[in-house]
Amino acid sequence: MRRYHVTTFGCQMNAHDSERIKGMLEELGLGESSSPDEADVLVFNTCTIREKPDTRLAAHLGNAKMLKERDPERVIAVGGCYAEAQRERIFGQYPFVDVAFGPGSISHLGDWLGAGGAGVARSSFGIAEERSFAAALPMHRERSFQAWVQVSMGCNSKCAYCIVPAVRGREVSRRPGEIVAEVTRLAAEGVMELTLLGQNVNSWGRDLRPDLDTEFGELLRACDAVEGIERIRFTSPHPKDFREPVIAAIADCASVCEHVHLPLQSGSTRILKAMRRTYSRERYLALVERLRDGIPDLALGTDIIVGFPGETENDFRETLEVVEAVRYDSAFTFVYSPRQGTEAASLPNQVPDEVKRERIERLVELVQRIARERNAARVGGVEEVLVEGVSRTDDARLRGRTRRNTTVHFSGDAAPGELVAVEIESATSTTLGGRRAALVAA
Ligand code: 5AD
Ligand code: SF4
Repeated sequence: MRRYHVTTFGCQMNAHDSERIKGMLEELGLGESSSPDEADVLVFNTCTIREKPDTRLAAHLGNAKMLKERDPERVIAVGGCYAEAQRERIFGQYPFVDVAFGPGSISHLGDWLGAGGAGVARSSFGIAEERSFAAALPMHRERSFQAWVQVSMGCNSKCAYCIVPAVRGREVSRRPGEIVAEVTRLAAEGVMELTLLGQNVNSWGRDLRPDLDTEFGELLRACDAVEGIERIRFTSPHPKDFREPVIAAIADCASVCEHVHLPLQSGSTRILKAMRRTYSRERYLALVERLRDGIPDLALGTDIIVGFPGETENDFRETLEVVEAVRYDSAFTFVYSPRQGTEAASLPNQVPDEVKRERIERLVELVQRIARERNAARVGGVEEVLVEGVSRTDDARLRGRTRRNTTVHFSGDAAPGELVAVEIESATSTTLGGRRAALVAA
């Protein structure tokens, strides 16, 4: 049997694309190999957003080159955002690469391989051609009871730091009927937890007008109505598009989890403006208040960038103030890094590396202190946990996640995919610890 191996970089959208890539390769009769060394088809699903892809990818591709020298029949495919951004240069830089494909062209990879593409001319497929939802492709899910569902592709915002609009194109929403049909099929296959994915999920539906008058809250309600779906998550919403119907849907729908990932990026209105985020610090804080008022026991997560061009010590302190005011349950923190082809890359006043490093250390310290306090407040309570498997650090314990998206390590018996009650006994800044509670009568 011919075998494949997929290496994934980047965000959840990319991880989801990798599931489609794997499903498609399996459809073609290939089996998964646990390491690239034994694989006949090597796929690298790349990212360009926050890491320096050149160095990490180059190391992986160096190994792939060696493998290909040993066995020239091997196929090397580079997909994802970096492949899209660097389409012209990939074959020049890495002449042993057989095929490059952008995020919108996963199905072309299957066609190409299926047609015996290897050994034919080098090919590349990108967003210039017709994009299609990977959803129509077969899928290989890592866990049988959890699934990602893509609701839109691309992004219409113009955030000055971000490469996504350049590599994933303009926003296109999937039709609600198609999404609900996929969710219904997934539920029938045993899926209990869904994560709806879009670059900006809560602007979903806008491009379907006037043909269809709908919005993201309505989609949440339609997914909630599907029998068997216990938990619904979504990522990521843009604060500028977070409207009342979505807040009401989160509050009303039993399966929509009390967890919102709400990217802040900066707490300085001046920097937000330069980032073209189109909200101010005050509007963001007002939204947080509306969310907390509308959704009891809400957990909030965020993304923050430090060292955007022109960020002063004062701007940075404003970010710290917002973090103090909101008290996030979790936060992803990033050092600004210029992405070629974005507006911010050519702005003057780039912040020196040592200043960025010093700021991110202060930010991480604050974020961790608050998250530790927020988690400590859960000690003594009981949480509903969806069991995911054995704890990675202690194989005598199990691991799962609460509705508020906190990882829990706990003792007691349970099977992956089970929903159990856990008594919380301890907390760190990122996890809770406890034991399975005695069964409570339903
Ligand atoms: N530099 C640093 N962080 C970035 N992000 C996006 N682009 C950049 C960049 N050029 C961060 C943002 C976004 C998250 C996915 O990655 O915070 O929300
Ligand atoms: Fe995801 Fe953006 Fe990275 Fe592409 S560039 S993989 S969309 S984070």
